[in-house]
Amino acid sequence: MTNLSNQSTPLIIDTDGGVDDALALIMALNSPQIDLKAITVLAGNIDVDRAAKNVLRVISIVEPDKIPTVAKGCEKPLVNPPFNAAGIHGTDGLGELYRFQQADGSPRYPQLTLEPADENAIDILLKAAQNYGENLTIVALGPLTNIATALQQDAETMKKIGRIIIMGGAVKVPGNISAAAEFNFFVDPHAAQVVMESGIPLTLVGLDVAMKAPLPRAVVEENLQKHPSKITQFIADCTEIYMAFYRDNEGFYGCYLHDPLALAVAIDPSLVKTELLYMVVETEGRFTKGLSLADLRDRRDESENPPNIDVCLDVDTQKFLQLFEQLVA
Ligand code: BDR
Ligand code: CA
Repeated sequence: MTNLSNQSTPLIIDTDGGVDDALALIMALNSPQIDLKAITVLAGNIDVDRAAKNVLRVISIVEPDKIPTVAKGCEKPLVNPPFNAAGIHGTDGLGELYRFQQADGSPRYPQLTLEPADENAIDILLKAAQNYGENLTIVALGPLTNIATALQQDAETMKKIGRIIIMGGAVKVPGNISAAAEFNFFVDPHAAQVVMESGIPLTLVGLDVAMKAPLPRAVVEENLQKHPSKITQFIADCTEIYMAFYRDNEGFYGCYLHDPLALAVAIDPSLVKTELLYMVVETEGRFTKGLSLADLRDRRDESENPPNIDVCLDVDTQKFLQLFEQLVA
């Protein structure tokens, strides 16, 4: 895998605009090791229009020197009806930001002035694949509908890209949206399977490692006290409802850093231990829709089913949390 730690490498983030997506974007916009060419957006946690607004909100808060292109893509999964996570991420996808006011009563998060590009996300992905070829990494933080659609339109061009780092799936651990499936694969299992079959080098950052990367509420509040800024205030605000969900349902007052971990693996692949495996995604299962099924048998026949994905199975949590704190403070 390309190690981005010594150089700044062209990268595209494909996102569904939720709370942990926002934290990953802050990291990317603040990281000198990432040359963020574009942010492509799709429906997942929330509808695509709202998701694009959330990405623009993050950009308006971080105020990077170079504003990346933000392009809207797929409004719904390839085959299945839309399925969102507004119950966890808030009806706006960012923890109901409209609730917050400044001391003078004005909204803390006023009307946005930034707009998404006119160009479609799929065209942006194909152009980037053509222009940057194997130097390009895509970090996919939502369902894989945009990437699968680009593959269906022009697989030859998409196959030029270097790697896709995917937040999704659960290989040796249970799912989070069902017993079998992780949310991103559950929402669009057909797209996930198209990507599995693509032949593009893939890395899976699934729940096996994401659940080992917790961010306690106390750390968020401490950061806000110690380093008050627009960014630490935004993180405290947008994670409030998200973290309350985990407190009320999982007995842990905080959240898991699913999407930030995938982004961190792009910056520093040495954070994780991986195993190259053959994987398929269940598209039809009555109880198992979205299951990421890796062949873990000792007697597997790799000539029949050649490994197609590097699966992260362990993570250096301390090192990851250090990188996270360094890039979001
Ligand atoms: C994934 O699901 C989404 O709700 C999060 O943003 C993350 O990408 C975790 O299962
Ligand atoms: Ca996401």
